[in-house]
Amino acid sequence: MAKENKYTIQKITYLHQWTDHLFSFRITRDEGYKFIPGQFARLGVKKEDDTIVWRAYSIVSADYDEELEFYSIVVPDGEFTQRLKNLKINDEIYIDKTNYGLLTTDRFENGKDLWFLSTGTGLAPFISIMYDFSIWEQYDKVILVHGVREANELAYQDKINEFFTHEYYGDLVKDKLQYVKIVSRETFGADLYGRITTLIENGELEKFTNTPITIENSRIMICGNPQMVDDTRKCLGARGLTISKRANPGNMAVENLW
Ligand SMILES: Cc1cc2nc3c(=O)[nH]c(=O)nc-3n(C[C@H](O)[C@H](O)[C@H](O)COP(=O)(O)OP(=O)(O)OC[C@H]3O[C@@H](n4cnc5c(N)ncnc54)[C@H](O)[C@@H]3O)c2cc1C
Ligand SMILES: NC(=O)c1ccc[n+]([C@@H]2O[C@H](COP(=O)([O-])OP(=O)(O)OC[C@H]3O[C@@H](n4cnc5c(N)ncnc54)[C@H](OP(=O)(O)O)[C@@H]3O)[C@@H](O)[C@H]2O)c1
Repeated sequence: MAKENKYTIQKITYLHQWTDHLFSFRITRDEGYKFIPGQFARLGVKKEDDTIVWRAYSIVSADYDEELEFYSIVVPDGEFTQRLKNLKINDEIYIDKTNYGLLTTDRFENGKDLWFLSTGTGLAPFISIMYDFSIWEQYDKVILVHGVREANELAYQDKINEFFTHEYYGDLVKDKLQYVKIVSRETFGADLYGRITTLIENGELEKFTNTPITIENSRIMICGNPQMVDDTRKCLGARGLTISKRANPGNMAVENLW
């Protein structure tokens, strides 16, 4: 009997270019494909020699969406993204049948304020989590922080702002969501300027959001540049916040993008 593939073959259904090195795409979703908001998929593209190159991609979509959306960088000379960027509508893409990752809110217990700290494409999993109704019931505040180099990289602003007036989410979200745009290499188009780490250390992020970061109230998810993840974790660790583990619930859940 032939061995069953670990993946399915899907089709590109939508492409949106944000900048010359950032774009989003959607693919068809196998009805058997399940994931928890915050998790990532493994996507594959075919190489010229017919082998497949695989990479991890955080899912942007709600868990109930019919298709799966992803938000991608284009890395100069990147083995995967130099091929991905050439795909057109109806082209084939491979997706591993398994869902992966621990950047999920079930890592946390209690807490009043849910923080999402992201840089670059690290924003992706947090959009998916925002479509999870349970977080709006559980937390008093949800603070989405997106840090990028330049203002034109602040992707998904419309989708995020739509939550405030959304037919189904609006009433739950409008008094709870805070969206903080941070730009590090320009001085226009954002709410705060500099690095997330600096803005935590100098207190500006807490001042801007009017929300102190505390062991008792804060549950903090961090995703993006690995050095940012590490530095943020250390600076919050110095204030007594800990990584949340199943056996030992704490304050932080983190994911590195490379
Ligand atoms: C858990 C997880 C989730 C991920 N989710 C996403 C996602 O949602 N969107 C996405 O674009 N990528 C994501 N990545 C990164 C992705 O898997 C690939 O690394 C990326 O597509 C580049 O592939 P590549 O072969 O072109 O370059 P690679 O050879 O994989 O990477 C080359 C270099 O490019 C840089 N780089 C790689 N990915 C990024 C990135 N996302 N942002 C900035 N610089 C980067 C790093 O310096 C890296 O060393 C994720 C990675 C992990 C581990
Ligand atoms: N953005 C571009 O204009 C551009 C264009 C083409 C290609 N690329 C390439 O794409 C790759 C990723 O670029 P990117 O801009 O998406 O991601 P990035 O380099 O991770 O930058 C995203 C944000 O994270 C911040 N950051 C980086 N390290 C940090 C740390 N240790 N602590 C706190 N914050 C930190 C950056 O601040 P800083 O600005 O202070 O570093 C920036 O605000 C790079 O290899 C780059 O060369 C980027």
